[in-house]
Amino acid sequence: MAPENTAEKVRRGLEALRTRLGVAASASKGLAARAPGRVNLIGEHTDYNDGFVFPMAIDREIVLVGQRREDEVVRLYSLDYDQESQFTLSRVEKDPQAPWSDYVRGVVDVLQKAGYRLGGFDAVITGDVPQGSGLSSSAALEVAAITLLDGLFGLGIEPPEKARLGQRAENEFVGVACGIMDQFISAAGKAGHGLFLDCRTLAYEHVPLHLEDARVVVVNTNKRRGLVDSEYNARRRECEEGAAFFAARIPGVKALRDVTMEQFAAYESELPEPIRRRSRHVVSECQRVLDSVEALKAGDLERFGQLMNQSHISLRDDFEVSCRELDVIVEIAWKTPGVYGARMTGAGFGGCAVALVHKDQVEALSAAIRETYPEETGLTPDIYVFSAVDGASVLAVESEGSA
Ligand code: GLA
Repeated sequence: MAPENTAEKVRRGLEALRTRLGVAASASKGLAARAPGRVNLIGEHTDYNDGFVFPMAIDREIVLVGQRREDEVVRLYSLDYDQESQFTLSRVEKDPQAPWSDYVRGVVDVLQKAGYRLGGFDAVITGDVPQGSGLSSSAALEVAAITLLDGLFGLGIEPPEKARLGQRAENEFVGVACGIMDQFISAAGKAGHGLFLDCRTLAYEHVPLHLEDARVVVVNTNKRRGLVDSEYNARRRECEEGAAFFAARIPGVKALRDVTMEQFAAYESELPEPIRRRSRHVVSECQRVLDSVEALKAGDLERFGQLMNQSHISLRDDFEVSCRELDVIVEIAWKTPGVYGARMTGAGFGGCAVALVHKDQVEALSAAIRETYPEETGLTPDIYVFSAVDGASVLAVESEGSA
């Protein structure tokens, strides 16, 4: 799917509002909202351990174009699926015929449960975040929907609360046990910056990425990700076991994020496998995020790249969430001159790898991957060069006829 600019998505959304849902957009009642996908630069499987993450929002987004109704009906139309799904505010349930709509249904459900007053609305959904590839198209849809409803009904929801509500929709309504990272970066990203987030306090800081001479290259393995949900939940349980072990021995420890490398070293021989290695990943990864932020503040891309490489090794050997396809891509990148660092990104078991590359070497890296990856895996990769963009925003729509 090729990227499409925001104005073009809004135009297509407005057109579909009229042709598919029979609504003539009016500037007083209508609105558009966008929210980006993300790539995590470092800090993997740390968010649900109260730890640190460092993602950036990417120039792929979900756009919703919507308009208030006078009744309690919600009508959604997905341009990707060419399908409509409808419900009323007093009865929000999943739609097995249109699972894409569950993300918006979930958002409506959690907003209402949190006490926000909504009305009915019509909305068209479009976007260009590749789906099912670990670039957080679901989080982008949730955050775009919250941003649309925030604008349509004047709810006054700040970005961190958007992220919390989006995560709740995913956890409680859709039924996927994700952490806070994906929704948070989609809500609160900043152009040209990575987002350093403390997933316990939700304190955050935008850190410049210094991408004048470097590029963020993301490679989709295009591997089918069958195991990801069950393995993700298994890792979460193992991390809880690790946290309980340390909590019983070190005062003040509530999560693995609270354990230092020194404390880990002092107790690791008592820990059973694989809890020892799972814990070592989380403890060391949290430290790598802190070190990465320091390196970037000093403009040291070489150091940041080394930390990305260490993160991959830790995810591969200790946390065991990589796979052959991801390892093949990362190893090609490691061998390519001009690559600062490369690692798997996201939950793992497929999805994408991310590399930080000197701008003059992007072509060489892409060529190497295009040549070697299919030979080694039988799969065709997708290669993207992403820039870091702003988090979710509301976009005004023109009345029909006035555009
Ligand atoms: C998925 C989840 C995130 C995070 C990552 C791993 O993307 O949605 O919350 O846990 O995996 O870092």
